[in-house]
This record gives sequence, C-alpha cells and structure tokens, in this order.
Amino acid sequence: MKFLLIILLMLNLCSCQKSTEDLLAEKGYQENQIQAILGLSDENQERFLNDELGSEALEFITAPWFQEEKLDEYLSYYGRLDTKKIIEMVNNGTLNEAYLDKLNEIYGSDYYIPKNEDLYLSFMDVYPSIREMMEIVNTKRYKELYSDITQTDLSKDYLMLINKYYQLPEDYEPEDLVYVDSYLGKGMLREAVYEAYKPLYADAKDLGYNLQIVSAYRSYDYQKGLYQKYLNYDPREIVDTYSARPGHSEHQSGLCMDVSIPGYSLDDFYLTEASVWLAENCWKYGFIIRYPDDKTDITGYQGEPWQLRYVGKETAEDVYRRGITYDEYYACFIEE
Ligand code: DAL
Repeated sequence: MKFLLIILLMLNLCSCQKSTEDLLAEKGYQENQIQAILGLSDENQERFLNDELGSEALEFITAPWFQEEKLDEYLSYYGRLDTKKIIEMVNNGTLNEAYLDKLNEIYGSDYYIPKNEDLYLSFMDVYPSIREMMEIVNTKRYKELYSDITQTDLSKDYLMLINKYYQLPEDYEPEDLVYVDSYLGKGMLREAVYEAYKPLYADAKDLGYNLQIVSAYRSYDYQKGLYQKYLNYDPREIVDTYSARPGHSEHQSGLCMDVSIPGYSLDDFYLTEASVWLAENCWKYGFIIRYPDDKTDITGYQGEPWQLRYVGKETAEDVYRRGITYDEYYACFIEE
C-alpha cells in the first residue's frame, strides 16, 4: 500500500512539473505553433494554456509583422478582413470602424466587379461616396476620356457598348438595316430595333405625341464629317460633350435614334411632355435613354433626352429600375 502511494505521489509530481511546451503539445498545437506561443510573454502563454486564446490568436502570432502588444486589437477585427491586412493596418494605425464600413459597402454592393477590387481600394477615399467611387471605377471614368480605347465586343450584338472607351471598327455596318416608313421620320435602323420602335410610336401617338425619328443609323464616314463640321463652331472639348468621335457613336450601330416632335428641335425636346413620357416608358418597348441629364459625368455627354438606344425589353427594364447608365450596367452585368 505504501509503495502504491509513493508511486502515485511521484506521478503527481511529474505532472506538476510538465513544461508549458508539453502542455501545449497535449492541447494539440503543432511544433511551429508552440514555438510561436513560447515567444510570447508569460501572461499570453498562460492565456493559451487557459484556452482564453486559441486558433484565432494563432493566426496572428504566426504571421509576419506581428506585434504582441497589439494582439488584442488584431483580435477585435478578426474575420472582418484578411489577417495580414489587419496586422498591416493596425500596425500603421489606419484600421478603424469607418474603414470597415466602407469595405462592407464595397463588397456588398450589387455593382462590385471582382477584377476592379484593387482600384476600389485605392480610390475609396478619393470620391465623396463609395457608390460614386464604384460607378467611376466601373465605367473607367477615372481615366481620361478617349484613352485606353478597345474595340467593342460585337458578339454582344444588341447589348454591345459604344462609348468613349469602346469603339466600333471603321468598317462596321449592320447587315440588317432597313429604312423606316416615312410616317415615323427618316433614317435606317436594324430590323429588330425598327420592329420594337413601332409599338412605342403607336402608343405615343395615341397619347398625342407624334414622335419623329430625326437621325438613326450613321456610317463611320458620316459621323466623321459631322464631328468635323462641329469643330468649325466649337472647340474640341465642347464638341466632345455633344458629339461622338467617329467610331464612338451609337448611331453607327443602327441600334439608336434621335427623336423629337414636330415644331421642336432636339435641343428643345426636353420642354415637351413627350420627352417626359418617353423617359418613363421607353423601357417597356426595349429602349433606354442613353444619356440622362443627371449622368453627364459618367457618360461624358450632355443630357440627350432624345437619344433612344435599343437593348431589348429585359435589359431596358433592369437599367431603368436600377437608374444607372448603360456604361455601368454593361460593365457589371454584360461584360465577362
Ligand atoms: N450625340 C451622340 C453622342 C452621338 O454623336 O453619337
């Protein structure tokens, strides 16, 4: 019996003398983790032994640039940002709730485009609101107009984007252009656009608005002549606010048209009830107002309540309900 008691006492003594290393190993920590914990103060080692600190703290203490005195601050942001980013920002004193709110707004936005992530982060303090910043980034408007030009993706067909960054080839001409009947005005449109426009015209007419097509398809050369002509009257930076450079006009696509009503020039069209009706209803027929008055900083053009662009009913409704430009819609929902 005495012998047994001595053995038990010895075993008890042995366990009392177990090192922190052994105790951590018993808890299942790996060798490199144990070494990291042993590099901490006694107090924090104790917290690991008491399970007050665990896997979350381990991520920080094994990461580069970890500073022990900031451990609790790092932990307060755990899971809300990449661990390395938390360390970097806490170390340089730039991480706070306002910053995290901005990040939440970016990552939770309907208009978040993964490939733009770095740009969002670098521009997040440059614009008055996150939404505005994302709109600018998504539409490439942080770049100079007519810079970084690429050919538009013609395979998108009725959904193709044509603006100051996306152009049509010089020789692009739609194959299915048709002349519009003279009662509708003048010009040529792609066949599907023409068919979509007829019921719009008829419904507008029933309401007393005799919409007339003033300009529809324009070839590259025609647009070139037009743009040159405007340059005789206005400096280039002004012309660029109302006329597209050749290759950059939607008119070349056969997907758009300018409309007005008799007795009103395009510039006066905004004074008519017809223009209000058109802005509120054209989506029902598959059209959008391409250059809204309140989006000139995104489109790069003065408001043009007269320019209708065909995109099909589903897209037109979505663009209308979201209240965004087609430039941004394309970037977020059409472009791959
Ligand atoms: N007026 C529009 C912007 C065009 O020239 O295509």
